[in-house]
Amino acid sequence: MFFAEGSEMSARLVCMCNVVSENEIKAALKKGATTTSDIQKMTGAGTSCGKCLVVIDGLVEKYLSGLPRNPQQKINFGD
Ligand code: FES
Repeated sequence: MFFAEGSEMSARLVCMCNVVSENEIKAALKKGATTTSDIQKMTGAGTSCGKCLVVIDGLVEKYLSGLPRNPQQKINFGD
């Protein structure tokens, strides 16, 4: 099966049971998911055999580690 480059399905498949791609998981994170449980509810990934949960955990951790620690904190621009 072939998918257009850059399409939702061209990305790496994370959850084989529920056919959920890495891009779909990233989209859920951008929509506000902060836990693997959120990802499960929003995408269905990881809700069958559970073998993909470790990968989902890693994606959540990686995404959250890239966010500012305290988004409410004001940035000092030196003015
Ligand atoms: S591979 Fe994701 S639940 Fe089975």
